[in-house]
Amino acid sequence: MSLKGRDFLTLADFSAKELWKFLKESLKIEKNLKNFSRKLSGKFVVLMFEKPSTRTRISFEVAVKQLGGNTITLNWRESQLSRGETISDTGKTLERYVNCIVARVKNHETLINLAESSKIPVVNALSDLYHPCQALSDFLTIYKVKGKLNGLKLAWIGDGNNVCNSLLIGCAKFGLDMSIACPKGYEPKNEVLKLAKEFATVSGSKIELTSEPKNAVKDADIIYTDTFTSMGFEAEKEKRLKDFLPKYQVTIELFKYAKKNCIFMHCLPANRGEEVTDEVIDGPRSIIWFQAENRLHLQRGLLSLIV
Ligand code: CP
Ligand code: NVA
Repeated sequence: MSLKGRDFLTLADFSAKELWKFLKESLKIEKNLKNFSRKLSGKFVVLMFEKPSTRTRISFEVAVKQLGGNTITLNWRESQLSRGETISDTGKTLERYVNCIVARVKNHETLINLAESSKIPVVNALSDLYHPCQALSDFLTIYKVKGKLNGLKLAWIGDGNNVCNSLLIGCAKFGLDMSIACPKGYEPKNEVLKLAKEFATVSGSKIELTSEPKNAVKDADIIYTDTFTSMGFEAEKEKRLKDFLPKYQVTIELFKYAKKNCIFMHCLPANRGEEVTDEVIDGPRSIIWFQAENRLHLQRGLLSLIV
């Protein structure tokens, strides 16, 4: 199936072959940006954010402009959505003006409704359930650093959140093993685990869940963590810190149980001293700035193929 016009709400909607196409396109554009500087010429992309963002917001805006397109930011609170206009009426309107909608939402259902109501591609810029742009650009980063994806092992330490969910789907599709260490009650959603395990039977990757970080990082090529308190969960922050600390903090000590050349990844923003120590995030194993940079490269590859 062609990628043109497709919504990008979750990696689960794409075959491994299609996901590789996004990575290859991103690499191709990065190598020769000039050749793609008119790729989105005459196209308009709306950026709508119901929650804060730094990386996603700016990397999309820069990506669209580097490809010769135009962006329009629709401030959620200044739009008619804030006065009760439905998301599907918004979608039906926007498709008449623009060529793509990039939206960060509180509730994943909002994205599904937006995608169903408009014929133009809708991109998930993060929801409570998934963060597919983040995960796909992370696979681009891992591929650049390790030279392959299949057969690697990623250890996730911390909250089984939206980023974890998208990495789960991606690992299962690309053939990486993924081991998740989280406290009881913070596991990824069952529906996501089930889906990932289904995809893993095709790629041959192993998905495992444990409450012990040391077990999760055994033989790991990548240790990945994220905030213990995602956007929308701020009221639980104190309880979460008690439930996660000190056991689920990524420390230098934890790296002793992983592979020698194991790298550290974090989607950012980070809460230094909570999910990760300064020593790790600023240390030689950390590739967080290269990881953040690749968000831009991936957004270009993604938009180039779907818009
Ligand atoms: N990682 C990420 O999506 O960052 P922002 O929230 O700053 O967009
Ligand atoms: N899990 C985090 C990711 C931020 C980019 C959140 O949803 O807040």
